[in-house]
Amino acid sequence: MTDTTAFIIFGASGDLTTRKLVPALFSLHRKGRLPSGFRLIGMARSPIDPAAFRASLRAAAAPADAAAWTSFEARLDYLRGDPTDPQSLARLEAKLSGAETGDGAAHRLYYLATPPHVYADVVQRLGAAGMVDRRRGWRRVIIEKPFGSDLASAQELNRLLHRVLDEEQIYRIDHYLGKETVQNVLVFRFANSIFEPLWNRNYIDHVQITVAETVGVEHRGPFYDRVGVVRDMFQNHLLQVLAMAAMEPPASFDAEALRNERIKVLRAVRPFEPGDIAGRTLRAQYDGYRQEAGVAPDSTTPTYAALRLSIDNWRWQGVPFFLRSGKRLAAKATSIVIQFKSVPHVMFPLPPGQGIQPNSLAICIQPDEGMHLQFQVKEPGTPAGMRPVDMDFHYANDFGPGAIPEAYERLLLDAFMGDPSLYTRNDSIELAWALVDPILRAWEQPSAPPLLHYAPGTWGPAESGAWLAADGRAWSSDCVRHEP
Ligand SMILES: NC(=O)c1ccc[n+]([C@@H]2O[C@H](COP(=O)([O-])OP(=O)(O)OC[C@H]3O[C@@H](n4cnc5c(N)ncnc54)[C@H](OP(=O)(O)O)[C@@H]3O)[C@@H](O)[C@H]2O)c1
Repeated sequence: MTDTTAFIIFGASGDLTTRKLVPALFSLHRKGRLPSGFRLIGMARSPIDPAAFRASLRAAAAPADAAAWTSFEARLDYLRGDPTDPQSLARLEAKLSGAETGDGAAHRLYYLATPPHVYADVVQRLGAAGMVDRRRGWRRVIIEKPFGSDLASAQELNRLLHRVLDEEQIYRIDHYLGKETVQNVLVFRFANSIFEPLWNRNYIDHVQITVAETVGVEHRGPFYDRVGVVRDMFQNHLLQVLAMAAMEPPASFDAEALRNERIKVLRAVRPFEPGDIAGRTLRAQYDGYRQEAGVAPDSTTPTYAALRLSIDNWRWQGVPFFLRSGKRLAAKATSIVIQFKSVPHVMFPLPPGQGIQPNSLAICIQPDEGMHLQFQVKEPGTPAGMRPVDMDFHYANDFGPGAIPEAYERLLLDAFMGDPSLYTRNDSIELAWALVDPILRAWEQPSAPPLLHYAPGTWGPAESGAWLAADGRAWSSDCVRHEP
């Protein structure tokens, strides 16, 4: 008996399918990791001939291995239709069941790559058409971000999805969790014995998490202007990375154990109260943003934000987590920097006013994936001179260039295998919204701290450095400094 697995993309004429999903699937095909009997059906409303669909995907993927592409391409099909229209779904069902004739199980993975406002409708219609019925095989649905635009809308979307699907059938994607370097945080912490004893308030002064982009809003002006940096980056990616860095060791590498520990971190983050928004948050917009296509000329949407988070548990009490993200910054870099405490007593005869730079560990998530541990060494030829040096690890050096697969590759493979560890559960999404909602609401009030401005190509508003300096700290650029 041979099983079949159909991968159905709704919104298949869009950018995500061409740029991310199909290249990831092709890479899995080349590695022999696609499930047996795999085939892809793309559906969208645009009239596209299946041959033209394949040709456009081939042109975008520019495959080096032509033979592999030819065998992959034979599994790709396109069906014109609207996933919110019952007749289109009936034609899809006929196409799918027409190929599910063998004795084996017939599994289906539906991918919602449509605009978010139709997610609930599509799932309801799939349910009404009996297309998530699990008698012949599993039925899973991957849902792209954004998942809601605030807590109420995320709760409502979860409620509507749960009318049709069990939670175990829902795969909410946050592609940051699919990044090898984010998963490496777990390996680094829990497969080594020397770091975890230091991973707490006794040794760590503070933690910085940065997602910096050099690009502006590009063609996404109208979308971005409604959303802003907190919804686009913090509610999902930054909070999930924070959870990976701060979680307790799970007892097993099991999906629910991992997700439970990440959620415990979000539960322990101290909520933002109206009175502390001014001190714990900072927002800014890059100069020229209001002139971008699709952006309101008087827009107050922030393109940069920095937040100070506290985690109220035994491990992290008193250790601030500074999160920042922005567009049009000086460099593209995503990093977690663990800043250790200063030595308790300096016995070296240092010049007046000079201290010893504390140790730091930079976990560079992208683009130059690696880790850098900074420590002091004695400067040769001086009686007690010292300076910081680095112990460096670059993924490219040890595993070769291109060894790190795209996040979507890992995430799609996990969805085929039924492993939701790196997908976000309903309670996690809602907790994340509950954390950022008060910030978004407070920023809309007349009493809100002012919207700052910054020049493109810088590290954000000058006030951001001063904000951290007032706390006795400074932003780290460790990962940028290490780029080849
Ligand atoms: N692109 C990325 O890198 C990326 C990253 C993260 C998240 N996402 C999310 O992934 C989803 C798709 O993104 P995308 O960049 O591929 O968008 P896109 O290029 O605008 O494509 C959207 C797709 O949805 C279809 N569509 C549009 N309006 C629809 C409607 N009312 N009902 C049904 N189908 C509709 C469009 O095709 P037809 O008009 O032909 O039907 C098109 O195939 C979005 O929710 C986005 O937020 C994308």
